[in-house]
Amino acid sequence: MTLPLTSSDATGLLGVYARVGPLFVAGEGSDLIAEDGTRYLDFVAGIAVNALGYNSLVIRDAVLRALDSGLIHVSNLYRTEPGERLAAELTKSFAGQAFFCNSGAEANEGAFKFARKWSKKTDIVAFSGSFHGRLFASLAATDRPDYRRPFEPLLAGVQIIPLGDRDAAQRAITAERTAAVIIEPVQGEGGVRPVAAEFLAFLRERCDACGGALIFDEVQCGLGRTGTLFASEPSGVVPDMYTLAKPLGGGLPMGAILVSDAIAAALAPGDHATTFGGGPFVAMVALEVVRTIAEPEFLAAVRAKGEWLGARFRALATRSTRVKEARGRGLMWGLELTEAAAPFVAAARERHLLVLTAGPNVIRIVPPLTITREELERGATILEEVLA
Ligand SMILES: Cc1ncc(COP(=O)(O)O)c(C=O)c1O
Repeated sequence: MTLPLTSSDATGLLGVYARVGPLFVAGEGSDLIAEDGTRYLDFVAGIAVNALGYNSLVIRDAVLRALDSGLIHVSNLYRTEPGERLAAELTKSFAGQAFFCNSGAEANEGAFKFARKWSKKTDIVAFSGSFHGRLFASLAATDRPDYRRPFEPLLAGVQIIPLGDRDAAQRAITAERTAAVIIEPVQGEGGVRPVAAEFLAFLRERCDACGGALIFDEVQCGLGRTGTLFASEPSGVVPDMYTLAKPLGGGLPMGAILVSDAIAAALAPGDHATTFGGGPFVAMVALEVVRTIAEPEFLAAVRAKGEWLGARFRALATRSTRVKEARGRGLMWGLELTEAAAPFVAAARERHLLVLTAGPNVIRIVPPLTITREELERGATILEEVLA
């Protein structure tokens, strides 16, 4: 069943999304369920958001408890418990403090402000293939000229340099100007590209030498997606700030900036704020999401499923002339094709498998982290048939 809903349809919605049918009315586990009852195996998970799948008991319980408290919103004028507990949970393995906001772009915008105040400098360095959001500073740091051009001038002083190029980074990151260096440890929108640990370590050294803040944008790759709580963990490199969002609120809008103690010390009341950030309702849900994901057994299961899926995708890349490369870690994979990816995404949807693109030639696979091996196997088989 296809019910095309395009930007020009009379839906009342602003035409900035090219939505496609079907009309989804329910979800269960790893499946989205359409109006006519057809189940779609979902390797998109709301774009790496629905880490615990659909109709998760963990989220359901947390939502009901949050409702029972009677507190959906209180404002940041007063203390509430869920946000404080969530901050404590998120800073268990990072020496710092949490600021809560409502999206990934907002988290990055905030991180840039914090970096500027702490460093007393202005400029930002980002990398080719990056995606950091669509607001005026986060868009300036996003390597999508077609998204940027109609809205220029964006934030000034943002330089985008080639990913992995040490010489370029050496030149661009300076003691005089650089307030922040922002990087996704595993790039998402730019084609699912894990960044080499050595390059992250080099950026750490360079930021330390120049007094700039190293920001790891883990909005997409963080919170268990790659099999560790933070995607950068295997590198051993610790940033000055993490930005988080997508899976954090269990599908409710929520972002966070984890700020090192040193940068936090440079900030004072009034430096930043948002009305809704970290309200008791979203924070209660996020607390349970983070606790669930941070369980060692949960992360080990993501790694095991990811290793199995990666082996299967690498084998596909070896034998298929259409698949150039399989890249990824945990449950975040990209299949780079020798041709445009969108027709294969559409063909998979016709066969009731949802996948998405990451740039023009890459099929992206980011299923719920709770997905079963059987479901992965079923989806991988459909993908292989579609790509044959
Ligand atoms: C790495 C990364 N950073 C930032 C964002 C922006 O997040 P949001 O859409 O919540 O503003 C995204 C969204 O795809 C992302 O993948």
